[in-house]
Amino acid sequence: MAKPSSVFVCQDCGAITHKWAGKCEACGAWNSITEEAARDEVPKGLSGGKGKKIEFVSLEGSSAPLPRLATGIAELDRVAGGGLVPGSCLLVGGDPGIGKSTLLLQATAGLSRQVPVAYISGEEAVDQVRMRAVRLGHAKAKVALASATSLRDIMASLDGPDTPQVVVIDSIQTVYADNIESAPGTVSQVRACAAELIRLAKRRGFVLFLVGHVTKEGTIAGPRVLEHMVDTVLYFEGDRGHQFRILRATKNRFGATDEIGVFEMTETGLSEVANPSALFLAERRGNVSGSCVFAGMEGTRPMLVEIQALVAPSTLSSPRRAVVGWDTNRLSMVMAVLDARCGLALSGNDVYLNVAGGLRINEPAADLAVAAALVSSASDVPVPADMVVFGEIGLSGEVRAVAQADTRLKEAAKLGFAQALVPARPRKDKGNAGGGVGSALSIRSIGHLQDVLGLFRSE
Ligand code: TYD
Ligand code: MG
Repeated sequence: MAKPSSVFVCQDCGAITHKWAGKCEACGAWNSITEEAARDEVPKGLSGGKGKKIEFVSLEGSSAPLPRLATGIAELDRVAGGGLVPGSCLLVGGDPGIGKSTLLLQATAGLSRQVPVAYISGEEAVDQVRMRAVRLGHAKAKVALASATSLRDIMASLDGPDTPQVVVIDSIQTVYADNIESAPGTVSQVRACAAELIRLAKRRGFVLFLVGHVTKEGTIAGPRVLEHMVDTVLYFEGDRGHQFRILRATKNRFGATDEIGVFEMTETGLSEVANPSALFLAERRGNVSGSCVFAGMEGTRPMLVEIQALVAPSTLSSPRRAVVGWDTNRLSMVMAVLDARCGLALSGNDVYLNVAGGLRINEPAADLAVAAALVSSASDVPVPADMVVFGEIGLSGEVRAVAQADTRLKEAAKLGFAQALVPARPRKDKGNAGGGVGSALSIRSIGHLQDVLGLFRSE
């Protein structure tokens, strides 16, 4: 039987089928399947040669700590796990225009003071990158700059004794291997090009940054397959309407994955934000009903943000629920618990919920703050302006303890808050309620959501 000369590859997840379909069976994406030339990837069998015996060693043993290269951008270094590890590959994903190129140009300029670095742009011409460097104040940085897209050329230039120690490929979707027939940006191209570049980085020991585009759905387009190949996946996110940006590690073989770095996009590039809580709370107006400050955690960092709720009578048959920066399902759950367990029915109202400043919160610990904002808006009684709130809500209306309560309280005290609404501690660690910061804040422990309603009752 003749071998098929083409296969159909889902551009979202990389699944291969032998006929076209409107929907990918593997990941459920619509219209993501395109035809690509088949590659002879089936191994010929292992019967021919004899394998060499590998040598096993014990787990115990001494190994030197990983050497790390500091970029000079503290927020980036922290997210990378404390600097860049030579020979590692970092994938930087994010929406177009969010600032990936800007961040990496700033990082390479910083690194160029210590080691030779190269920046290869497939998207912009050399002049465009130069113009950006001038704007960023790095026109004089010793960065080897090139505009190239051919994998063969890039490999030939990097594979030598004088290889730079840091290489940026902006973006991996523009690079193409001329021995593969598909167009640049397709799964087979992206996978093959990345694999070659990563192998070279490991062999030559340079740090490789790959920039990857993100689809509407928020995954790195095509290169979802890339996430498995690289050591670290960083997402650069943020709202275009706001000036600050968050760099989040979703995978890191050399550090924690829950760290974030906060940046502000300014006229002269990205500047680091050392105290994000102060920034997120900068425009807060105290004593407005429906506003509540949540003491959250992002990785090891405490972060205070304002949660705003607006509950308004609805004229629609199915009232509106609009959520920015939080999970819509989680809002429905909190509203259902308020209704079923506390008798506060909001079903006839439009409900708007907003995390001020454009941050996205994923923690269940925000439940209590959301509930407080909703109750406050519904009753038109403000949450005290000097109060922070955190706690998870269970389906029976109980308020559950959350991790790192002390760190959250410490941050609140540092920013001048005087009260905290927190979950009642389980009996076993009652002794340290409020931790060592109890004196700075007056702490009100809450066991059931019903108690929150009592706090914001309109007279
Ligand atoms: P860019 O780094 O090109 O985004 P990406 O590579 O992720 O597509 O960022 C471009 C945006 O950043 C653009 O909208 C302009 C803005 N910007 C500034 O506000 N200040 C600056 O100094 C620079 C260089 C860009
Ligand atoms: Mg770019």
